[in-house]
Amino acid sequence: MVSKAAVAALQGRSYLKEVDFSPTELKTLVDLAAELKATKKASGKVPKYLHDKNLILLFAKTSTRTRLSFEIGGDELGANTVYIDPSASQFGQKESVADTAHVFAGMADAIEYRGYSQDDMESMAANAVNNEGHRIPVWNGLSDQWHPTQMIADFLTIQEEFGKIDNQVTLAFVGDGRNNMANSLLVTGAMLGINVNIVAPKSLQPAPDVVGIAERYARMSGSKLQITDDVAAGVADANVIYSDVFVSMGEHNWAERLQLLKPYQVNQEVLKLSKHYGKDLITLHCLPAFHDLKTTVAQELHEKYPDLVGTDGIEVTNQVFNGPQARHFVEAENRKHAIMAIMVATLGDLSLMA
Ligand code: CP
Ligand code: NVA
Repeated sequence: MVSKAAVAALQGRSYLKEVDFSPTELKTLVDLAAELKATKKASGKVPKYLHDKNLILLFAKTSTRTRLSFEIGGDELGANTVYIDPSASQFGQKESVADTAHVFAGMADAIEYRGYSQDDMESMAANAVNNEGHRIPVWNGLSDQWHPTQMIADFLTIQEEFGKIDNQVTLAFVGDGRNNMANSLLVTGAMLGINVNIVAPKSLQPAPDVVGIAERYARMSGSKLQITDDVAAGVADANVIYSDVFVSMGEHNWAERLQLLKPYQVNQEVLKLSKHYGKDLITLHCLPAFHDLKTTVAQELHEKYPDLVGTDGIEVTNQVFNGPQARHFVEAENRKHAIMAIMVATLGDLSLMA
């Protein structure tokens, strides 16, 4: 049972990147997400921790899981949510991040923001202050650099699968090793104490400052980190093989990326390189995934680059995506439980907590 005091320590705080919270605080969020999930599964509902709260959800990039988690999770917790699409608001074109944050804080109790630069994310939180000087929490729904709400869901999924989060578990992220997902997995893994291997070509390996943050936490947690361009070495010990799109939102350089990352596709041969193949090996993907040609983007890429995009997926093959080791859809459901935990901990009425 998560202690009320541990949750109370998170009240009123923003969650912009993983290191905003301590490793113990991140683990509290994972455990609270597990409890909310169990409560929902057992009784069909959760306490209305967010009664009388208004949440603004500002998405500068598209989203399925994150938006639904905040909207449906918010509704289940008793909140009112308002979705703002930048193309239909003043944000970005006629109004700055800082002015937007002040306006939002005057009308609502918290802000979810999916944007581009981490600097904008930090600016949103720095300026989320109302006219009485009250600061409201800001939750990062993904930036170019970090995807912190995804981490609570991913580590909940790992905990459910292996019964623990410790250095008996090794995660290998294979693909674009300097995107938001690779950064977040490297740092969160180091904070919570699993081993993390980033498997990527040299030009797509994590930035030195990100590696530095992860190494500092790894020294405390006992996690082992490896950055390598060698797929066989990178997945040899892996219990979790993680893939993500080769080109993230906001990027457009498919030709170059497909060329660079073709050897980093997660396929059955890559799974077989793990000593845990067929036993203690799962695959994860934050989704959406290009694992077949049933999307317009994958179809167009296949037509444009037939030598680089075959019929069997881009970053992950259809066989792996649909294999017995795949946990992507559990992970996707866990997004909602995780985001509900983040909202409850930072904004919820804890008098409703046992
Ligand atoms: N994984 C994730 O963030 O999904 P969406 O882009 O659909 O929100
Ligand atoms: N790296 C991906 C993650 C999507 C959830 C992107 O930023 O597009």
